[in-house]
Amino acid sequence: MYSSPDFNFDPRFENPKELAALSRRGFLGRFLGGALAGSALLSLGTKPAHGAEAMNDMGAAAAPDDEKFWKLVTKQFLIRPDIAYMNTGTRGPSPRSVHMAQIDALNRINNDYVSFRRDFYTEEFADAFYAKFANYVGCNPNELALANNTTDGMITGTFGPVLEPGDEILYTNHDHGAGTNPVLNRAHRDKLNVGIIDLSDPKLHPPDSPDELLKAFEAAITPKTKLLSFCHTNYTDGLFMPVKEICEMARSRGVITLVDGAQPPGMVKLDMHDLGCDMYAGPSHKWMLASMQSGFFYVKEDMFDRIEPVISTTPYAGKDMYGNDLSTNERFLERMASAGKYTRRGSSSYPKWVSVNAALDFHNHLTPEGIEARIRYLATKLANGLRNIDGVEVFASEDPRLHAGLVPFRIKGVPTRDLNTKLWEDYNIYIRSVTHMAVNWDANRASMHIMVTAAEVDKILGAVAEISKSVNG
Ligand SMILES: Cc1ncc(COP(=O)(O)O)c(C=O)c1O
Repeated sequence: MYSSPDFNFDPRFENPKELAALSRRGFLGRFLGGALAGSALLSLGTKPAHGAEAMNDMGAAAAPDDEKFWKLVTKQFLIRPDIAYMNTGTRGPSPRSVHMAQIDALNRINNDYVSFRRDFYTEEFADAFYAKFANYVGCNPNELALANNTTDGMITGTFGPVLEPGDEILYTNHDHGAGTNPVLNRAHRDKLNVGIIDLSDPKLHPPDSPDELLKAFEAAITPKTKLLSFCHTNYTDGLFMPVKEICEMARSRGVITLVDGAQPPGMVKLDMHDLGCDMYAGPSHKWMLASMQSGFFYVKEDMFDRIEPVISTTPYAGKDMYGNDLSTNERFLERMASAGKYTRRGSSSYPKWVSVNAALDFHNHLTPEGIEARIRYLATKLANGLRNIDGVEVFASEDPRLHAGLVPFRIKGVPTRDLNTKLWEDYNIYIRSVTHMAVNWDANRASMHIMVTAAEVDKILGAVAEISKSVNG
């Protein structure tokens, strides 16, 4: 049923010496779970992403510092080998299996526009996909809505809660516009108050402990606060908020929580139920490495009644556009009893969901824990290396509770944009900077995902040392 001549072919992994080398080093058995060895190894990039069968026989990733293993993983990416791509915090390039799954889906659709829906993107596929996705983020399938990106979920999560004029929405001044703009728009429209949690103190970049952040949140909540919108990981400094503790505290004060999860999915293992937030918006196009314009919106099941699907095309007040009562319509009832009611309706892109499905397979194959460990290893290597360079300030915390894959830093005397340009033009290294003058924030930011090799970390360290020396002596 599912075959594509191109999809099952990746000559880079047909090199028997490479396979033999891996085998000799003894982790083939562990990695592959036994017999399949040659053909299954690297089915990461060669097997169809449809259905769990593609990855069933394989186990976890190797140790985070096993360069040989991770080098093979980097070969799964289509990024040109001369480029060191370090900006997954903005957009994540897909590995081959994910890329090809999407292309293959597009090919199939444009081939006849009928059989794709009949044979492939079926109800069975969708059910399995939701179950897999929900399992990946740690929630029930009915708590998961598909979204176009983080912003999409933040809009629904901000406009959805039932609030009264005079109620307050609280957010932090390190939040992204995807969170703050919907808050300001809703506050204006519905005559709500807005409160800001001030995280601009340099002592908070990084703080000594997660407690300091919790205290800043706690101190800002007032009796009028009804909705708290904040980032799981700040896009500015890569700082992780103590989401679980913040949500527990907010809940005890009757405050609904909406988490901007633009950065963690695909970077660290997630568990919505453990985090305890009411809503969480995340992308699949960054660290999850799936198609552009894909993501998810989680709503805790016991919040379905308190969060309206206002920005959606779900029938209003239980009636269709002709006023017909839908209270016995099974499909309508099913949707209203799930986060599906928060999904915006209308035609979507099947290929992008096929790519997310393939991305979930890719992550599950290497395991979220294995990927997180490698990301942390690379980020620690980079942050420690930068700390040793004269003239460089590093804002990443050394506490793993506060930091994972984004490494913010600055070279004294070098404008952040100039550094991005220099690294790109002279060294083929791609990073970005984040400038947010309202909170006096201006730093370069490197993303450490699994397409980065340890050699590339050494390369950026060498480049930064050279540039810093040329300015700071
Ligand atoms: C913290 C944060 N929120 C929201 C966004 C917007 O994400 P998306 O493009 O998925 O809407 C970003 C993007 O970089 C981000 O870092």
